[in-house]
Amino acid sequence: MIEKQIAAQKAVEFVKDGMTIGLGTGSTVAFLINELAEKVKGGLRIKAVSTSSSTTHLASLLGIEVFDLNKVAMIDLTIDGADEVDENLDGIKGGGGALLYEKIVAKNSEQNIWIVDSSKLVKKLGKFPLPIEVIKFGSEKIYNNFADMKLNPQFRMKEGKKFVTDNGNFIIDLKLITIENVVETERLLKSMTGVVETGLFNKIADLVVVGVEDETITLKKRDQTKN
Ligand code: 5RP
Repeated sequence: MIEKQIAAQKAVEFVKDGMTIGLGTGSTVAFLINELAEKVKGGLRIKAVSTSSSTTHLASLLGIEVFDLNKVAMIDLTIDGADEVDENLDGIKGGGGALLYEKIVAKNSEQNIWIVDSSKLVKKLGKFPLPIEVIKFGSEKIYNNFADMKLNPQFRMKEGKKFVTDNGNFIIDLKLITIENVVETERLLKSMTGVVETGLFNKIADLVVVGVEDETITLKKRDQTKN
C-alpha cells in the first residue's frame, strides 16, 4: 500500500455514523472515497458534500450520496489532501484546481483533516507553485501584474489550452520558491481585483494524517484560533 492510501485509511477512523462529511479532491482523497464507500455499503450512514466535479462523480459512482452545501446545516468533518504542509499546519492546496470549493467547504466545517504522504511535509511553504484562481476577464492583466511583482506567474495549461476550473475560471501558478509570511502573502494576493481565491490555506487544518512508509503519524494544530 502506498503512503497516500495508508493516510486515507487512517482518516476514515474519524468518520462516525450520522456525520456530514466534506470530501476534498485529488488522488489521496480518491483512496478515502473508496474506503468510505466500503463502509457505506456496510451500513455507515453519512451525508457528503463535494469540492469538485471529479469528487462528486467518484463518490456518486461508489454509492455515496452527495448533497449541495446550501442544503446541509454544517459539515462535521472535511477530509482533504494538500500539496504542501508546514510545521504550523498551514498549507498549499489547489494542485488539482479545486481550491475555491475546497476552501469554502473547509471554512464551513467543524473540523478539517488533511491526508498526505510524507513528501508533502515542508519546513517552509512555497516550493510547490502557489495556485491563484482568477476570473477569465482581464486575466492577462493580472498575469502581467504578477510578473511585475516578480512572482513568476504561469497560466496552468491542460491539453494545450488554459486550464478551466469547475467555476469557469483560470489558474495562474506562482513559482515563489519560499513564502516567508503566509498571512501577509494571502492578504496581498486576495486584495488584487480579479483574484477569486488563493491556494494558501492558513489555520484551516486541525489535524494532518501523514502516511510514512507503512505507518501514519498525526500532526495536531497547536493554535486553536480559527479565521
Ligand atoms: C486539489 C488539491 C489536492 O488536495 C492536492 O492537489 C493534493 O492532491 P493529491 O492527493 O493528488 O496529491 O488541493 O485542488
